[in-house]
Amino acid sequence: MNQRKIVLAITGASGSAYAIRLAQALLSAGTHIHLIVSNAARQVAAQELELNMPADDASADEWMDFTQTALLTETAAAWGFREWSADVNGTCAVHDIGDYSAGIASGSFLTGGMVVCPCSMGTLSAIACGSSSNLVQRSADVHLKERRPLVLVPRETPLSLVALENMTRLTRAGATILPAMPGFYHRPACVADVVDFVVARICDHLQVEHSLTRRWGENT
Ligand SMILES: Cc1cc2nc3c(=O)[nH]c(=O)nc-3n(C[C@H](O)[C@H](O)[C@H](O)COP(=O)(O)O)c2cc1C
Repeated sequence: MNQRKIVLAITGASGSAYAIRLAQALLSAGTHIHLIVSNAARQVAAQELELNMPADDASADEWMDFTQTALLTETAAAWGFREWSADVNGTCAVHDIGDYSAGIASGSFLTGGMVVCPCSMGTLSAIACGSSSNLVQRSADVHLKERRPLVLVPRETPLSLVALENMTRLTRAGATILPAMPGFYHRPACVADVVDFVVARICDHLQVEHSLTRRWGENT
């Protein structure tokens, strides 16, 4: 089977739940995820969800199990998350953030796109200046140079001129800046609904099918 490959990088901005929910949606859509996680992302997940992400040397199977169970903590349950009931048709490969020999560090390795979710201002700035000083930054740089979809999901407020200029630069270079900036016109009943709103928009931009939210204008 020729699975669609998507690089999913999780960095240390607030919003671990976005990343986990996105991983669940990608796996349900049959995607092969290439996963990279920064050290700061682990700290944020521990703080926000009382969750220890799998260790640096954890296997893909451990990460697959993690994505299915991570939003069942007491905190996540209070936010309205329930067991992910959709089928899991996708697979996952895990990369060390310092491993530049990974396929996704090269333009010759074909993917359907990359998403950095959530994207810290630090990683956003490094991608904007092309520093490629870890695998997240290098793989993002590859997606820009190969003109493949690169979706960045920043979470910060307020935004400094530095951050705004970095976002402008990245947009000019071909990236999509998709801030974790939920709408409320779908009348969310809980935090899970708010998270799904953002994840649905990310999936749309990666052309990944989902049924996370009702679309505006549908069934009217
Ligand atoms: C609990 C917590 C929340 C944070 N929230 C944000 C945030 O919303 N946005 C941001 O840009 N950085 C945030 N940071 C700071 C980043 O984690 C920090 O700048 C880090 O160097 C980012 O590294 P990375 O890009 O390699 O993940 C947060 C850190 C912690 C511990």
